[in-house]
Amino acid sequence: MERTLIIVKPDAVQRGLIGAVLSRLEARGLRLVALKLMQIDEALARRHYAEHEGKPFFAGLVDYITSSPVVVGVLEGPNAIEAVRATVGATNPVKAAPGTIRGDLALEIGRNLVHASDGPATAQREIALFFRDAELLSYERAIDRWVVE
Ligand code: RTP
Ligand code: MG
Repeated sequence: MERTLIIVKPDAVQRGLIGAVLSRLEARGLRLVALKLMQIDEALARRHYAEHEGKPFFAGLVDYITSSPVVVGVLEGPNAIEAVRATVGATNPVKAAPGTIRGDLALEIGRNLVHASDGPATAQREIALFFRDAELLSYERAIDRWVVE
């Protein structure tokens, strides 16, 4: 079992797509173990996107991610990190395959609707940035054995 962080970004919240984004990930069989609506402040945005500091798009990225409330969640499942990245689609929505969230619902890299952790170390760091251990719930759903062999 793997855990990964997702952020339903400001454009998705403002466009009324919270449900559509979460629904695709939930329908894939992934289990939500944490979920909250929150406002990311500048300090948290800079920490979350620290790897991009110094790049030309950094200031715009911080402005974007702090521009509206977001929904932050943790999803769990086998190969959850790769499964979520694949469902989200390529960073630039124009390059994202149809059937992916970005490929179906977005047009520009600076308004690409959703963030997803890109590896195990990143996932661990990002989950700790947004959630306390006690907020990550361990539970089973009746459907789990119909999703995971
Ligand atoms: P994310 O971190 O948001 O899940 O997206 P990602 O892994 O697919 O892409 P990443 O390379 O980590 O970039 C983070 C976010 O920065 C914005 N970006 N803008 N204008 C640009 O060239 C550019 N490049 C990246 C996007 O919002 C991207 O999701
Ligand atoms: Mg990234």
